[in-house]
Amino acid sequence: MNSNTSKPFDCVAETYSRFDINIVRGQGARLWDDKGRQYIDFTSGIAVCSLGHCNPKVVEAVREQAGQLFHISNLYWTEPQLKVASTLVEHSCTDRVFFCNSGAEAVEAAIKLARRHGHATRGPDCYEIITLEGSFHGRTLATITATGQPVYQRGFEPLPPGFTHVPLNDTRALELAANRRRTAAILVEPIQGEGGVRPLSDAFLEATRAVADDLGAVLIFDEIQVGMGRTGTLFAYEQTPVEPDVICLAKALANGMPIGAMLAKEEIMKYLGPGSHASTFGGNPVACAAAGAVLDQFLQTDILQQVKQKGEYLKKRLVELTQDWREVREVRGRGLIQAIEFHSPKPDLASWLLEKGFLSIVSHGLILRLLPPFIIGREEIDQFIETLAEYKHGQDS
Ligand SMILES: Cc1ncc(COP(=O)(O)O)c(C=O)c1O
Repeated sequence: MNSNTSKPFDCVAETYSRFDINIVRGQGARLWDDKGRQYIDFTSGIAVCSLGHCNPKVVEAVREQAGQLFHISNLYWTEPQLKVASTLVEHSCTDRVFFCNSGAEAVEAAIKLARRHGHATRGPDCYEIITLEGSFHGRTLATITATGQPVYQRGFEPLPPGFTHVPLNDTRALELAANRRRTAAILVEPIQGEGGVRPLSDAFLEATRAVADDLGAVLIFDEIQVGMGRTGTLFAYEQTPVEPDVICLAKALANGMPIGAMLAKEEIMKYLGPGSHASTFGGNPVACAAAGAVLDQFLQTDILQQVKQKGEYLKKRLVELTQDWREVREVRGRGLIQAIEFHSPKPDLASWLLEKGFLSIVSHGLILRLLPPFIIGREEIDQFIETLAEYKHGQDS
């Protein structure tokens, strides 16, 4: 017997640097650890539990579906999958959905689709994907290569060929990178999430559409972090001047049940015919039952309107707090994805906030990224701002 089995923490791969707390329960915007301490969640499990922890309608849908049919594979139709596919199609600019289990898988599917489409319409050399510096698209080999941050690629070489990166919002660089023979797709997040909550300008997004149209390439929006209501509309592209050809979703789509989806227009998705791509668990009935309950709430309540209002309130409070805070470079975001960028690293900030009872994310040491659930209360936002003010005064003194 391996001696590690007596020490559970030592049995898990050390791929994450975790905070040393053990969360045992969640409800709404609150979480509790095994010692009974309560926390307010400003992460939503990294943009996942947008309707709050253990959202009652999602819990009910999962319970009911788990007692009826857990899994059957994609050899057959199931009602929950059909409901989610038709709802996503009805409310987007796309026509068909491929289901998978995570964000990286959704981007991987989009990359495969773009290559198939490129090969079929413009020949075998048409496989290159243009993505952005600072982007994040997942942790598989293809998606770390698409990701415009060398830190995620180091040590995993050789990386698959066919990816080229241009600076964010640099139209000239995009036009120079575009190649009539080789460029199969342009892949962007409408607002870079993990990279630091950096929105793409309308002018740049218009350029991505124009370049893709000119070449006959596919425009892919990775909405895994900023889609599904996070910015105040069901899809983030709805607040931009362009429509993508392909959309990648995951995270908040099922409020915590693992799911991913790649949506595309019919004239593109038709290049992924039977046998060309697959996932055993993709579109699993229980995950889709959860997603159905999520979409019902996004579409049948005023929750997305609330995201806009609460987002504006959170941003206003962050701007007020930071206007005389010399260490702050910028406050930015849309809806309920907001960030404070500091001039110099704040390695202790997330642990300090945790100690005070708030879950938060600090990316690259420099950027406090706030992703509260949509059901967050104004009082909870106020409490968070007061706590951050305490940190600010500690830094100033
Ligand atoms: C924009 C974006 N794309 C892709 C991914 C990868 O998703 P997953 O971790 O579910 O594979 C993430 C995860 O943070 C993301 O933010």
